[in-house]
This record gives sequence, C-alpha cells and structure tokens, in this order.
Amino acid sequence: MCGIVGYIGLRDATPIIVEGLRRLEYRGYDSAGVAVIQSDQIQIRRDVGKLSNLQRKLEGEPISGSIGMGHTRWATHGVPAEHNAHPHISMNGEFVVVHNGIVENYLELREELAAEGVEFRSETDTEVIVQLIARLAADGAHGDVAEATRMAAAYLRGAHAIVVMSRKQPDRLIAVRIGNAGGVAVGIGENEMFVASDIPAILEQTRHMIFLESRQMAVITQHGATIQTLDGAPIKAEVHNIPWDPVSAAKGEYKHFMQKEIFEQGRSITDTIRGRVDFDHDTVLLPDLNLTPEKARSLTRMVIVACGTSHYSSLVGKFYIEHLARLSVECDYGSEYRYRDPIVDDKTAVLAITQSGETVDTLAAMEEARQKGATLWSIVNAIGSQAMRVADGYITMNAGPEIGVASTKAFTASIADQYLLALRLAELRGTLTPEARRTHVRNLAHLPELISRTLDGDPAVAALAERLYQYSNFLYLGRGINYPIALEGALKLKEISYIHAEGYPAGEMKHGPIALIDRNMPVLAIALKDSVYEKMISQIEQAKARGGIVIAVATEGDTFISTKADHVIYVPETPELLSPLVTVIPLQLLAYHVATLRGADVDQPRNLAKSVTVE
Ligand code: AGP
Repeated sequence: MCGIVGYIGLRDATPIIVEGLRRLEYRGYDSAGVAVIQSDQIQIRRDVGKLSNLQRKLEGEPISGSIGMGHTRWATHGVPAEHNAHPHISMNGEFVVVHNGIVENYLELREELAAEGVEFRSETDTEVIVQLIARLAADGAHGDVAEATRMAAAYLRGAHAIVVMSRKQPDRLIAVRIGNAGGVAVGIGENEMFVASDIPAILEQTRHMIFLESRQMAVITQHGATIQTLDGAPIKAEVHNIPWDPVSAAKGEYKHFMQKEIFEQGRSITDTIRGRVDFDHDTVLLPDLNLTPEKARSLTRMVIVACGTSHYSSLVGKFYIEHLARLSVECDYGSEYRYRDPIVDDKTAVLAITQSGETVDTLAAMEEARQKGATLWSIVNAIGSQAMRVADGYITMNAGPEIGVASTKAFTASIADQYLLALRLAELRGTLTPEARRTHVRNLAHLPELISRTLDGDPAVAALAERLYQYSNFLYLGRGINYPIALEGALKLKEISYIHAEGYPAGEMKHGPIALIDRNMPVLAIALKDSVYEKMISQIEQAKARGGIVIAVATEGDTFISTKADHVIYVPETPELLSPLVTVIPLQLLAYHVATLRGADVDQPRNLAKSVTVE
C-alpha cells in the first residue's frame, strides 16, 4: 500500500526521501510526492506513475530543505492523479501531511470543513486530515503542530499512519499510528532522524529504530524523538537494532528482485535453520516462541491465520504439525477468520504467518484470537513488525528483506519455520520416537543443498517458459503435501504474468476443472516419486486424454514419467515432508520467466502491493 518517508537533520532532505521512496517501490503505487520546508515555505513536487517521473520533475524544479516528507500512493479515494498524490497541504499553506490508511468518516468531516469554507483540492480522504489539523491549530491548539495533530486524531475513524509538519515549526516532524494501517518506524541517526512506513526505506541510513504502537505519537526533532500516547501519557520506547544488511536489499547482479530472491533460497533456508537445530541432540530450539512443555502438552488445537502466499504456506504447515506433533490444525484466511465467530479456548494456539507482519487482515485475525483467549504466536519476516510485537511468542523467518511483490523466499522460510515448530511441539508432546525425530531433524541438514541443486535447473525452466508463455490459461495440480504448492504455483503465475491460472487438488480435477482441458490448456502436475505418485500418474493420463499439454515436476531419475508428460522438470529426490520446499522453486522460476517474456513488470505487478494494509 502507501509508503511514507520523512527526514529531519543537517543534510538535504530531498535526496534522502527520494532514495527511501525508491526502496519502497516494491510496495506498489500509482503516484509519488515530496514536500520540504524551504525558506519558511512548504514546497511540494508530485507526479503520477513511476518514481522516475517524480525524479525528473525534481531535476527540472528542484526543492531542498533540512526537513521533509515523501509518499508513494496506492489509490483508495480518488483516481491516481497529481492533485490526489500526497503530500497534501492545508488551505492556509501552513501544514502538510502524508498518510497511509483510510479515513472512514472522511465524507462527514469533509462536509463539515467545506461548510466552514475550506476548499478541497483533491478527492482524497487524506486531505481532510490536513485541513482538520489547520482548523484545530487555529482553534484550541495555539498553532502547535503536535497538539493540533493529537486533537485531529480524535476525529478520525479507521486505521492510520500519518506524518505531519508545519512551516511555522520547522524543527519537528509529527508521526502518529492508529490501528494497523502499516507500521511507523522512527530511525535514529547522528544529529538526524528518520521516519518511515517500512524498515528498508531507511535501513541504509540507520539500523536503530523505534516502532510506534497503535494510538502513539512521536514528536521527532533533529536530536531525537519523544513518544507519547494520543492521551498524552509519555512512553519509554524500546530501540530495536535491525540486523538486516542494507546491501541485501539491493538487486546486485540480478535483473529483478524477484529473481534475486528466488536464487537466495539456499542461503535463506540456511539462515532460517541456523542456530535453531542441535544436530548432536536431534532437538530444535525456538526461544522466542515462549513455549513451555506444559503449554505444548495442553494444546488441543491450532489455527493458522494468514493471507495469500502465507496462507498457502500454512497449508503445508498443517501437514507438519498434524503429522509430527499430532495436533489438529485448521488454516483460515486472515480476512475471513473474525467473521465466523471462531471457537477458541485456552487450549487453542493461533499462529499468524506474515512476511510483512503488517497485513491488516492477519492482524485483525490475531486481535480476534487475542480477545478470545488463545495463545498467540506469529511467524514473521519483518523484525519489529506489529505481528511480532503483539504475539505471545514468535519465530522469525530470517529470509532477509523481500522486495519483490511476489513472495518467494519468505514462502520457503515460513515453511521451514513450521517444520521447526512441528518438531519442537513433537518433542515436547512426545509424539515421535527418538529414531523418527532424528531422521526428521537430520533431513533438514541437506535442505539448502537440495534447494541449490533445484536452482541449477533454471535454464531448463527458462527454455520451457519460451514454449508456454503465450497460453492464456493454466491448471496446476498437486496432491497431499504438494497440493498447496499447486495453489502457490498458480498464484505466482497469475500475479506477475496476468495469465489466468488455477491450482487444484489433483483428485478434484475430475469434479469440474477437467471440463476446461483442451489443447490450449497447459496442465502442470507435481508428480514426485512419493506416496501419491501412482495417483498423480493417473491424473496426468486423464489430462492427456483430453488433449492437455502436461508439464510434470518429477523426481530426478524418473524416466517413466517422460512417457506420460509432454515436458518434465526434474527436481532432486527429497524427503516427502520437505519436498514442497523444492517443488515450489521451478514454479517460481516458471512464473518469473513467463512474466519477463510477456514484458510484465515482475517486481511491481499492476494493482498489487507488498504490504496490504487496507481491508
Ligand atoms: C504473495 O506473492 C502475495 N503478493 C500476497 O499474496 C502476500 O503473500 C499476502 O498479501 C500476505 O502478505 P504477508 O505475508 O506480508 O502477510
């Protein structure tokens, strides 16, 4: 969704803000803008489309100042257009605002302000915030930007992240967080401070950050930040040290972030496992989960809440936790969970999986679980994110920054995390024999190498993409533990190449989707030499009999399958439970190559955002 960057210090704010916005490009946006205070006046430049348009405008009409803010917009109210782009300035030219979220009662506020003579220059909900601040500053807040912002916050319904500055107080930026409209990170530098909606925006500048909780406000000056609640109570905020390496947030030798992130998976899985598995004692350590033996034994049920790719990851996790720890698992969409009046008790653990840790639907599901008394855990990639902070315990993915909108390495990292969680639960619940535990733990040691070998198959997948990229519909089939991979493979293809693709449990094909199969329908079937191999072969035969073009993802050495399928992508033999971590890789690569051949914008697909902070 929208991205926010702010700066106050001794340097020129504009290039720092633009660079921060560039690092947020992956979030998806339709326009961008920057505001600075220059010679006591607020100067704004905005443009629609890519950041390069704004950069060109700034080259032609430069602005500079030691305090400023920038924004990338993902339209909710008002079409993508320059006059709707942020920052928005008050009618009196005194205040300027960038905003992430939706003002649910904006129409009502707009009417009230218009009746008082305010002339609106955009169709956005955001503009009411800045006009309201200006009105309250003149009427009760004695011109003070922090006080006027605090007062304005009381009028706003919905969830918000807001940054405000005033030309009359050019020594401070005000940041407010209300609810879960994305994070607010306050970055601490030497004689300079930063504020951003996402860590990568300012990670090049500082690794020391404070994260605002809901209903908190930061008054940020060049020398530091004071945090308070919106009721005025002072807060002693914790400073987090972010371990991510800024270099890892750059594209390096790769054409796209998505491509880089696919190829990072050997290393990212090593980082996920590192320090958590004691191979000498066949045990798993997850200290941040705060899981006691009593809790592990008392659980009767687990619910995993997540969205999109993270939801498909949870479907693999269900296999692990049920099979290894003998704990019943239900997976639900974050966006649906709270609308079902879910049954939860103190013997239920609710696990949220979220790369960004800021997905509003997942956070809402967590909130529902919290209120109903569940033990609340999260698996997150973004350190310090809301999903990490509100949980009773968490497991980090350790995948490093994921910039491509299409999630790849976070998917495999979160699956690996669930495997670790299942083994930990199994150990504490005594559901595995020592021999079985040893086998499952030790299988992990080979995983990074198996992933690297799978990635070596990239040229073959690229060649296959050349033959397939012009088709308009794809069907992905999988069974057992690779059924979620069929769903994920189809999602990857549709989100970055805009080709219609459906994932199905292979056994369901005959109950409907088989009607779609003809010679224009590539059918991708994951058919490893595993417990469902024969069943998958018979699905392949059924698809072939209807003229479908079958692409099989198969185990190395399986020559028989090449007599059944039109094309075969081989992956190394992998223990069945861990096989999704390998089979998903050619599907990620296929989506990537097909999308690039179709000329699609792989890292920033249309209409999508990396962090979905609206409902
Ligand atoms: C993945 O490729 C997606 N773009 C999307 O489905 C994503 O997985 C979903 O929005 C959830 O995000 P999260 O993991 O950050 O919560």
